[in-house]
Amino acid sequence: MPHPDRSQSERPLTVALSKGRILDDTLPLLEAAGLMPQENLHKTRKLMVDAEGGVRFLLIRAADVATYVEHGAADMGIVGRDLLLEHRPHVLQPLDLRIGCCRLCVAGPDDLVAKGEPKPGSRIRVATKYDYLTERYYMARGVHADIIHLYGSMELAPLVGMADRIVDLVETGGTLRANHLVEEATLFEISSRLVVNPASMATRSAQIQPLIDALSRAVDQAGRQP
Ligand code: PRP
Repeated sequence: MPHPDRSQSERPLTVALSKGRILDDTLPLLEAAGLMPQENLHKTRKLMVDAEGGVRFLLIRAADVATYVEHGAADMGIVGRDLLLEHRPHVLQPLDLRIGCCRLCVAGPDDLVAKGEPKPGSRIRVATKYDYLTERYYMARGVHADIIHLYGSMELAPLVGMADRIVDLVETGGTLRANHLVEEATLFEISSRLVVNPASMATRSAQIQPLIDALSRAVDQAGRQP
């Protein structure tokens, strides 16, 4: 784990964020905590944007946020619990932001799911981007899962006969229904978490802790709104 050197300790506190639909939920929390970006994060093509209060944002892919934080290139970040469970990065997780709420599920074609869960000793093909969690889930049930790694649109795989099940995030269930799939089991409840680099927490807690406290208040405040 790199230790912040002199130049790093002088650099603005750096917060890694992901674009995409989670940004809509993230921005009000950041703004309520006093972190107002100096540009429109939805529109800018910049990957690094300054904010009020000596903070800067990095705008990267969701799957890369924890990597930047783990390596100390960002002091903090916002990342889904699904990615933390799958990749197990060495980061602190001080706060559940209660946004991006969904669940990680096993789903399959309605006719297959109606026959019941795969029996111990059986072999199935599972399409997912959560290879580790999927393998662990089926291993615990004595089922041999051949993992087919995909990067998105998992729901297509059973439709074209490439997989018997998928393991993917479900929010409204609309994508499953549109593709004649039904949920079979829930692996985990998911939401976005604030993550912090451990060395940053040790050396810059005077900056980081007030920010965690402000975000915590913003989360509570958002929870109280109708
Ligand atoms: C996510 C997820 C499902 C869908 C679930 O995909 O992978 O496909 O949302 O949402 P729903 O239950 O509300 O329909 P996303 O749109 O983020 O794109 P992806 O396939 O690239 O992951």
